[in-house]
Amino acid sequence: MLELIPITECIGTEVRGLDVAGYISDQDFERIYQAWIDRTILLIRGQEMTPAEQVKFTRRFGEVVTYTRSQFNADEFPEILVLSNLTRDGKPIGSAYSGRVWHSDGAYLSDPPAGSMLYAREVPPVGGDTWYGNMYAAYDALPDHVKDRIADLKVVISRVQSRPYNYPDRPPPTERERLEWVDVAHPIVKVHDVSGRKALYVGGNVPWRIEGMPEDESRPLITFLQEFATMPRFTYRHRWRAGDIVLWDNRSAMHMATPYDHVNHRRLMHRTTLAAVL
Ligand code: SIN
Repeated sequence: MLELIPITECIGTEVRGLDVAGYISDQDFERIYQAWIDRTILLIRGQEMTPAEQVKFTRRFGEVVTYTRSQFNADEFPEILVLSNLTRDGKPIGSAYSGRVWHSDGAYLSDPPAGSMLYAREVPPVGGDTWYGNMYAAYDALPDHVKDRIADLKVVISRVQSRPYNYPDRPPPTERERLEWVDVAHPIVKVHDVSGRKALYVGGNVPWRIEGMPEDESRPLITFLQEFATMPRFTYRHRWRAGDIVLWDNRSAMHMATPYDHVNHRRLMHRTTLAAVL
């Protein structure tokens, strides 16, 4: 029988009694979907699923992004992005260092993805955890005068400047990328398109700025909001076991990967990503 159990008071629901590769009734799926929207992340442990089954399960939540230009797709599955330190024929099979700062996926896009699903195939015995933060809760807890101050502000995100923070193992942007990658602005307070609730959108540790605000005012405000949003009370640190699935709502959660020993241990994760509009 399907059971939905809170992970912490503030964030996350663990789904028990579910085989994601098996039959899921519409009624059960509706409960799972609502828990995802309400609690920002879902955890489902002990799953065995093939890449095809992962894509199929992700599609229950909405349209899945296909990576047409990535060198880190799973074989024959352009919908699966491989995050790993493993190599084949001396070449990396996945992105090894991505996401080591607090972030929302694709913040540098005008329409960032709605969510992402990470499936742990191999995990190190220590390290390689992922932190998640509930940005509804962070927004709700802000003092009223701060809510008033940020109500109509936008953050400007430079993909060029964010690159070394988000992907430290990739080469710096080429001249062509520098020209192609235009800065984007997002409201600091995002209204979730399904729940209608407000969530803080500030990224973390990345040099963002507030549109139209002088640098000496913008920087301390952004730093305050980033530090506030990632306080332990809003977060959950997930210690992975092989077979775990975590699905996060990218509209209401931030997340951050943590380091592990790349020389002695193996980590192999498969990520599927939901398009902006579900
Ligand atoms: C990510 O930011 O999508 C990666 C998270 C992780 O590898 O733990």
